Amino acid sequence: MNLQTPPMGWNSWNTFGSNISDDLVLGTAHAMKEKGYLDAGYRYVVIDDCWSLKERDAQGRLVPDPEKFPRGMKALAEDIHALGLRFGMYSCAGVQTCAGYPSSYDHEFEDARTFAEWGVDFLKYDFCNFPRSGDGKNRYATMSMALKATGRDILFSACNWGTDEPWKWMKSLGAHMYRSTGDIQDNFKSFTTIARSQLDKFCMSGANCFNDIDMLTVGMYGKGHVALGEACTDADYRTQFALWCMLGAPLMLGGDVRSMRPEAENLVLNPRLLRINQDTEGRPPFPVYQGHVANRDYDPADGRSWHVFQDSGLSLFKHLSDHEFAVGYFNFAPKRGEIPFIFADAGLPWGSGMGLRLTDAFTGEDLGVHRDYYNPMVGPHDCRVLLARFAPC
Ligand code: GLA
Repeated sequence: MNLQTPPMGWNSWNTFGSNISDDLVLGTAHAMKEKGYLDAGYRYVVIDDCWSLKERDAQGRLVPDPEKFPRGMKALAEDIHALGLRFGMYSCAGVQTCAGYPSSYDHEFEDARTFAEWGVDFLKYDFCNFPRSGDGKNRYATMSMALKATGRDILFSACNWGTDEPWKWMKSLGAHMYRSTGDIQDNFKSFTTIARSQLDKFCMSGANCFNDIDMLTVGMYGKGHVALGEACTDADYRTQFALWCMLGAPLMLGGDVRSMRPEAENLVLNPRLLRINQDTEGRPPFPVYQGHVANRDYDPADGRSWHVFQDSGLSLFKHLSDHEFAVGYFNFAPKRGEIPFIFADAGLPWGSGMGLRLTDAFTGEDLGVHRDYYNPMVGPHDCRVLLARFAPC
């Protein structure tokens, strides 16, 4: 399998947890096709944990829960393939999945054969209930080989939550993406902490093996399995999606795509943001500003007072293909503030005779040619993302 850009799709866990069924998964696949998600690049439909019975059958094979999946997985996979989508499933390297279902420790080759027979194209492979005496790296190597031995192209999505620094070795084992962090929750603190913890690791992410900072929560608005803490606003979701796009992380939707609010749907289908995520050069961004956000309106009773939010401002600069660039400005503070980007910090000093023509990636608006710096005001928890091209000036 030759995987040049970050995988995109949908996964059942964030919204539905164990509440999954053939109807839900097929209904989601139809929505992905009809509402333009597939055309935008979202092609994997992935069933997470809780799909099987609690016991294997007499031959030792995993059995889909007949109440949730009465037709079995093969028929479902065929229907998903007929829509032009790809089918993903879930197992775990331990003796049970995180939710207590049978998993693949010491069953790797037979389970991989079962998945291949069902027409599975993607396997998320978790790390719960792993024996203390076991060797985690070796068990990811084993499932990787088991999948290859089936002869079917199956994207291997390793999910050991960053244990033993997988960015240093998971690619070597044949995995196509690896979870580098603990589980996301649908709140601003959770997903910004996750994304920021990996900022300096994305230089080890790229074609054929991508750093996975977990499924998105965009569009959940406080409803669903991982909706814990304070519900997100549209600004929060803009920041989440912009971080995932700027970093070049896999885009696995976790909301209910059958009924996404238009704001969330337009966000995850935004062609300019997706182009940044899917850029074929696959370069990680680097920080051109990491510091505080200062806000003068913090105390309305005293117009002169300033409040400084430490470590709340971040600007990222990313090289794209075809002489283009992307700039992301992030305000993690609960108040608006100016976030700087001095062009010299990206390697474009005043003396170069070059400026940048800037385009707003959210709206497509042409912001004109700028020289030396562009420091926008950014709302609380919000972001700006710009596309940039050289302009002599
Ligand atoms: C772990 C994973 C999650 C999800 C659950 C399912 O916590 O990290 O993404 O797959 O297991 O139980």
